[in-house]
Amino acid sequence: MEDLLFRDLVYFHQLLVGEKLVLSRERFNKFKLNSVLDIGCGEGGALMRMYYAFGTLNVEGFDVMSEQDTLQAAIKRKTEKNLRSSPDKQRIVPRCIEDVYGLVRRYPDDVLPRMESVEEVRYFMKNIQYSTIASGYEPRLKSHDAVICSQVIQHARSVSDATEVLEMIRLQVNEGSLVFIAIKDGFPTALGYLEPSLLLAICSQYMSVLGLQHYLGKQTKDQGRVHIYTNL
Ligand SMILES: C[S@@+](CC[C@H](N)C(=O)[O-])C[C@H]1O[C@@H](n2cnc3c(N)ncnc32)[C@H](O)[C@@H]1O
Repeated sequence: MEDLLFRDLVYFHQLLVGEKLVLSRERFNKFKLNSVLDIGCGEGGALMRMYYAFGTLNVEGFDVMSEQDTLQAAIKRKTEKNLRSSPDKQRIVPRCIEDVYGLVRRYPDDVLPRMESVEEVRYFMKNIQYSTIASGYEPRLKSHDAVICSQVIQHARSVSDATEVLEMIRLQVNEGSLVFIAIKDGFPTALGYLEPSLLLAICSQYMSVLGLQHYLGKQTKDQGRVHIYTNL
């Protein structure tokens, strides 16, 4: 698979944005990937990509944002993108949350075909829960083949906020689970976010517990550097 496609495939990982990380799709092969939990799933792009690329059907996710706010954010992003793009590069603007999921891109070597109807997407989304914070979420399965938590933990306002999410990850993995955690280290402490060194220290602690590697990703314009903890 070309790097460019792979970069997109693992967009949710922002994995290949890390300068030195050379990965290939084969690295996913050591994992079963029948079930996935996405903590702070946002617009569900990671779950949809897992479905298309690996055939993952048992998907579960939650986010503290409401469904309506998630939809509005997607509409705003696409509309702004369209204003900056030429007429031939215009994107479809979603009208409902099912559209947001349904519009996720698929590639020719994806294992499953595109979901065509709102009903299909709705069925896929049956275990996605909005307006739900980590501390109030009870996972449906005992454990998952993959647990994703991408760009969520830096939103924590206290050590216990961060630990709650990391504990959920710890409790949701089994011996062979894929774990993917990404954070950014530049959220302003003046706005109540955790001191970056503290955030990184908490993540490092769980990295050892979960047997993960730490990778440095790209430096963002105003949210600090991306850090990735994964066993991929
Ligand atoms: C930057 S977005 C990332 C969304 C998605 N994971 C991705 O990588 O595209 C961060 C998301 O985490 C959610 N979030 C932050 N803290 C959370 C918590 N404690 N419980 C559930 N969702 C949370 C936010 O509402 C937001 O949708």
